[in-house]
Amino acid sequence: MKALILAGGEGTRLRPITHTRAKQLVPVANKPILFYGIESMVAAGITEIGVITGSTGPEVRAALGDGSDFGASITYIPQDAPLGLAHCVLIARDFLGDDDFVMYLGDNLLEQDLAAFVSAFEEARALPDPPSAQILLKRVPDPHRFGIATLDAAGHVVGLVEKPADPPSDLALVGVYLFDAAIHEAVRAIQPSARGELEITDAIQWLITNGRRVRTELLTGWWIDTGKLTPLLEANRLLLEKIETDVSGTVDETSSLDGRVVIATGAEIVNSTIRGPVAIGAGTRVVDSFIGPFSAIGDRCEVLNSEIEHSVVMNDSRILQIPRLEDSLIGREAVVERTTRRPRALRLMVGDHCQVDVE
Ligand code: DAU
Repeated sequence: MKALILAGGEGTRLRPITHTRAKQLVPVANKPILFYGIESMVAAGITEIGVITGSTGPEVRAALGDGSDFGASITYIPQDAPLGLAHCVLIARDFLGDDDFVMYLGDNLLEQDLAAFVSAFEEARALPDPPSAQILLKRVPDPHRFGIATLDAAGHVVGLVEKPADPPSDLALVGVYLFDAAIHEAVRAIQPSARGELEITDAIQWLITNGRRVRTELLTGWWIDTGKLTPLLEANRLLLEKIETDVSGTVDETSSLDGRVVIATGAEIVNSTIRGPVAIGAGTRVVDSFIGPFSAIGDRCEVLNSEIEHSVVMNDSRILQIPRLEDSLIGREAVVERTTRRPRALRLMVGDHCQVDVE
């Protein structure tokens, strides 16, 4: 079994962060989203991993290397343009050969570990009338945003449609799929959709139409497609809920740590209160401040005389004299500062597609 992880595409919904950065590398709980996917593949015993990259390829390569840090071997497969999920399978043909594989969307985060999902497919493949694919479904309140499955009375999938205006069900396709080699014929047979992409949903529908069996499983734990701010903060919250206290940095005697808190090596907490779950990155200084629940502050940041809660602050940023920052995503090397300079005014340099809420 191999894995194909999709880390190309365009991160239009997290701009401006993703103008310059792969959306799959945005950190949640101080770890890039993509790392969780790679780690869950390795935990499921899959170490031969192909990674599809797009315009942010160099950054993805720099982050993942040859995979040895994860106990995996990574083969990079560049995609010239984001021509669709099925196009990714098409260009990965040489890497995949005729092996079964897991396809994993690099911006998806799942609570459930994948080992059981993978072994269920392997067991079903050993029985008569083996499935050619296995999909993971989850009921969602907004089915028009996803690939949607229709099941018959016996629970077998009979139809699949991508982002329907009039959804036939609320069962969304989660971004983890298992395939055998039949998918290669399917991705060659289908045509681009109205949005100009080769849709994996159409390729799976092709399998069904051509008499192949597609197994389904219903996801029980949480699942987040992190492409937008609110789900990203939600993913950050859910993952921080699982952290264990680990204090490697220094905390002075006038500071207090409540609840589960990670303070990485070289971080310094001075005269501050950290109320977990919170993760503070390496080399970050927090002085005269409050860091409240569900905050992840990256590496080498500075937080002075400020209060932050339910937010993600990426590496090398500075939050200075801010009475309260909540529900926020701050990019890298950003400065958010309150000054006493006159005239009193907001002085902003805000990137494209940003939203700033002034109290
Ligand atoms: O998140 C689940 C949904 O993912 C499914 O319900 C849909 O059926 C499926 O089409 C997909 O929809 P999205 O619109 O969310 O896909 P997105 O364009 O965000 O791409 C998913 C990942 O694949 C993302 O990490 C970028 C990468 N990608 C995407 C395209 C279109 C590529 O590497 N190459 C591509 O050509």
